[in-house]
Amino acid sequence: MKILYVDSTVRRGSRTAALAKHLLNRLDGDIETAKLSEMDFPKTDESFLSRRDKACAAGDHSGELFAPARQFAKADVIVIAAPFWDLSFPASLKQYFEQINVLGLTFDYTADGRPVGLCRAKKLYYVTTAGGPVYSEEYGYGYVRALARTFYGIDDCTLIKAECLDIMGADVDALLNAARLEIDRLELP
Ligand SMILES: Cc1cc2nc3c(=O)[nH]c(=O)nc-3n(C[C@H](O)[C@H](O)[C@H](O)COP(=O)(O)O)c2cc1C
Repeated sequence: MKILYVDSTVRRGSRTAALAKHLLNRLDGDIETAKLSEMDFPKTDESFLSRRDKACAAGDHSGELFAPARQFAKADVIVIAAPFWDLSFPASLKQYFEQINVLGLTFDYTADGRPVGLCRAKKLYYVTTAGGPVYSEEYGYGYVRALARTFYGIDDCTLIKAECLDIMGADVDALLNAARLEIDRLELP
């Protein structure tokens, strides 16, 4: 089983990464990591889009430009680690999605204009931690789940979260251990 770990955490002591690693330790397979803070995302300006459109129209996804999308499309399981930032997630994760949403590689359109997924993965885990309560899952996990279901064809998405970690007096270890317990109870693919 090929596991793709999409890591958008940035802090050395990241609690989100610690939970994601707990999950990865339970999953059986080869792990490839996309460490987003170490990736150089091209600027998605007009010249980039036209280069990409030309390659897609020619059905040529062999270029370096498509390497992240090829890696994503081939994975059996996706694990995303994303701290809760500004009600959603770090911008690097959005930049990553802009790179992997590739027509003819990770998704296609049917004749009547509906997107269909071309990714091999059947399962996506989204791991997040938040300083306060996650008031709405809509902008973080909910958005990623919508992308997964609509574009990538990954219907089975699971959220793992620990929230209220930065509230004064919070028992951070207890909150993280509760999330670890939740991970231990998951039925894994
Ligand atoms: C740039 C930034 C934005 C944040 N925005 C929010 C937020 O909107 N809501 C919230 O509850 N916590 C917010 N936090 C706190 C983080 O969600 C929290 O500290 C989280 O556990 C950090 O994850 P990490 O330990 O993996 O780095 C923010 C932190 C940073 C650095």
